[in-house]
Amino acid sequence: MTSDAIARQRIDALRQQLATAAQAYHERDEQLIPDAEYDRLMRELEALEAAHPGLDRADSPSHQVGGRPSSRFPEVVHAMPMLSLGNAFSDEEVRDFVRRIDERLQRGQLLFSAEPKLDGLAISLRYEDGVFVQGATRGDGATGEDVTANLRRIKAIPDRLDGNGWPAVLEVRGEVYMPRADFERYNAQARLHGGKVLANPRNGAAGSLRQLDPKVSAQRPLSFYAYGTGEVDGGELPSTHSATLARLAQWGFPVSDLCRVVEGADGLLDYYRDIGARRDGLAFDIDGVVYKLDDRDGQHAMGFVARAPRWAVAHKFPAQEQTTTVEAIGIQIGRTGAATPVARLQPVQVAGVTVTNATLHNADQIARLDVRVGDTVIVRRAGDVIPEVVSVIVDRRPDGSRPWVMPQACPVCGAEIVREEGAAVWRCSGELSCPAQRKEAIAHFASRRAMDIDGLGDRYIETLVDAGIVRGVADLYRLQRDTLLLLKLALDAADPSALASAVAPHLPADTSGAWLNAVLKLDAAADGWRAQVLALPATFAWNPKKIATRWADNLIAAIDASRDATLERLLFALGIEHVGESTAKALAHWFGDLELIRRLPWPLFKRVPDIGGEVARSLGHFFEQDGNQQAIDALLQVGQVRIGDAHPPSSRLHEGLDLAQLLVEAEIPGITRLRAEKLVAVLPSAAQILDAEPACFIAAGLPEDTARGLTEWLDGDGHGQLLLSGETWMRRLLERTPAQAAQPAGPLDGQTVVLTGTLSGLTRDAAKARLEALGAKVAGSVSKKTAFVVAGSDAGSKLDKATALGVAVWDEARLLTFLAEHGHQP
Ligand code: IVH
Repeated sequence: MTSDAIARQRIDALRQQLATAAQAYHERDEQLIPDAEYDRLMRELEALEAAHPGLDRADSPSHQVGGRPSSRFPEVVHAMPMLSLGNAFSDEEVRDFVRRIDERLQRGQLLFSAEPKLDGLAISLRYEDGVFVQGATRGDGATGEDVTANLRRIKAIPDRLDGNGWPAVLEVRGEVYMPRADFERYNAQARLHGGKVLANPRNGAAGSLRQLDPKVSAQRPLSFYAYGTGEVDGGELPSTHSATLARLAQWGFPVSDLCRVVEGADGLLDYYRDIGARRDGLAFDIDGVVYKLDDRDGQHAMGFVARAPRWAVAHKFPAQEQTTTVEAIGIQIGRTGAATPVARLQPVQVAGVTVTNATLHNADQIARLDVRVGDTVIVRRAGDVIPEVVSVIVDRRPDGSRPWVMPQACPVCGAEIVREEGAAVWRCSGELSCPAQRKEAIAHFASRRAMDIDGLGDRYIETLVDAGIVRGVADLYRLQRDTLLLLKLALDAADPSALASAVAPHLPADTSGAWLNAVLKLDAAADGWRAQVLALPATFAWNPKKIATRWADNLIAAIDASRDATLERLLFALGIEHVGESTAKALAHWFGDLELIRRLPWPLFKRVPDIGGEVARSLGHFFEQDGNQQAIDALLQVGQVRIGDAHPPSSRLHEGLDLAQLLVEAEIPGITRLRAEKLVAVLPSAAQILDAEPACFIAAGLPEDTARGLTEWLDGDGHGQLLLSGETWMRRLLERTPAQAAQPAGPLDGQTVVLTGTLSGLTRDAAKARLEALGAKVAGSVSKKTAFVVAGSDAGSKLDKATALGVAVWDEARLLTFLAEHGHQP
């Protein structure tokens, strides 16, 4: 074959591969190969086409922008084409870019607008006389899709322009994106409920925006940044790009506060490194930065090449997605026993970090992706999120691979792994007898927001548990300084023989690596050496000993300091599933006493506003476990942990607390408050209900199927006991609760309020603080338990939900009047 023929073959293959990938990406929001690979193939194609001009063709993917618009949306012909950007991957390429401009313009000083390159979807927004009239995707650059209805749901996109002086026709271009936190939250929900999991925030943005149903798209949290303009008619824009962005901001468009004006190639490269260093901490994904010659005259003078301006370039960051192969699939056991499958990978560099493990989230996710050992996969690492497997490149699957199945036994403790009812969660049933769960539980207990035992890092916990020194959290309070000292000395010794020789003069003759092992296991044989190492004075010139001494002393002090705990911290520290800090705080506030909380039948936890069935059952389950009760006993033993702020339960627990309510809160199928009241009118105690014949329930006025449901429920495991003890504890609660409120009750005590939309008379924080001062809990989402929703202007989905649930809605005026009536002037 001639060299032209070889090139032709390769060019054809590249064009085919790139076109298929681009089509899937732009038209179906599907990613066949990672971006970095796409870029690499594109560069190869461009280089070949440049070397063989005869083979270049206008319809080559190298001359295309994006994908064809899909036929699902009406077409929009862009008044000014939406272009793409050339890429630079190295400092050299950035310097070349500046040099080309310098040579052509011959100006000396060159100023650039440097901006983050958001990883989302390019859109164009058209405003006529200051009113948003149409929004479109980029499509193939000339024609896009009309996604106006979906764009209207994005809060960051103004409906009307602020201020004045805008051109009669103004097209604003920018990026629609999904903030990382929203993406994570969305996927966590989707994984739990088996919904569609988004591959990355950009796919999230693209998929949402191209949803045909604006209501579906509205459920996915999207945002927008403006980075430029399209058609401008009937008015002027400033003469530089940076001033134009500032003007757009005045008119109400979000413009990234990371945009800067910098000078020359050095300024650009400094900017690149600065943003690169901050990349992981940003609230959104960026795949690089964009440099644009700042003054518009210069831009005109530079003009365009095929699909991109010569006055701008995208400087890409290392890709956050890479391909690698799965060597094995293991499972990791978390604090509450959740078994998370983890892919062990052929090590690969992703955004500057070597990745060897990636989470697969849960078995459902594996099944959805169909990840198998031997597969080539795309892994993604973005921000501080753990690396994850995004998709499988099925074309590269080796023959004979088999689908993965969740193992039946915990790899750590051997206990059975069971699937949690109704959720995509598998759990090791070993509870705290499983060392993996024990380690996680101890780490959580010691963490800053729990008992705050500074200095007790994971690797120490690991060894303490493995050596059997710490079996449960209470053992932390029995740790001896000497044990810690030895532990640290042994663990910090990068080279065991070096450690051994350092202490050799002070130890018996045969000291070697065996010494270290002995220390690690702290077995009896080590005692002789132990004594000698410990006998070295702390001021001994040997540095490791000094460091270890300081660490051990500080750790002992931190452990001691944690002995005086608040109820809320201790409750959080116990690591009960679904009990985060705010739930722990609410429990402490309402019940006031661990002795009460640890004995309470679960339906009674639902007395606390915002505690629903799932959390209540999880609390009940936790306290039902003997191991957990023993751990609490051990903690509370004299001299261990003391709770300083116990108090009687809140008097608000009285409200509506009766047997009928207990029946409702026990979630007996079909039992509503009304039906429970009918039942209790005839059978006024739990014992009577348990003893009654099914016919009795019908006689009491229950519909037949409810009566049957109740009979079946009462036969269920532990249900009779739950009712009896629920009743007993209900009575005790009523007795223990002081009849009059100990603290003066605020007018909104125990009520949950939600704020939504924009308030004009006071900030949202101020409104929240005042409502809380009157006893309200201000929550982020609307539920049946919400007392009322305060809706400011532009209120969105929360208002819709409140209306749908029949929750009261207050406008701002009503809130202000109410606050004024209760002594809070805005
Ligand atoms: S300027 C003529 N600025 O990157 C200049 N683009 O291929 C056109 N992008 O999908 C684009 N951040 O949506 C520009 N600050 C920024 C950007 C940016 C992200 C996206 C753009 C397009 C791609 C360029």
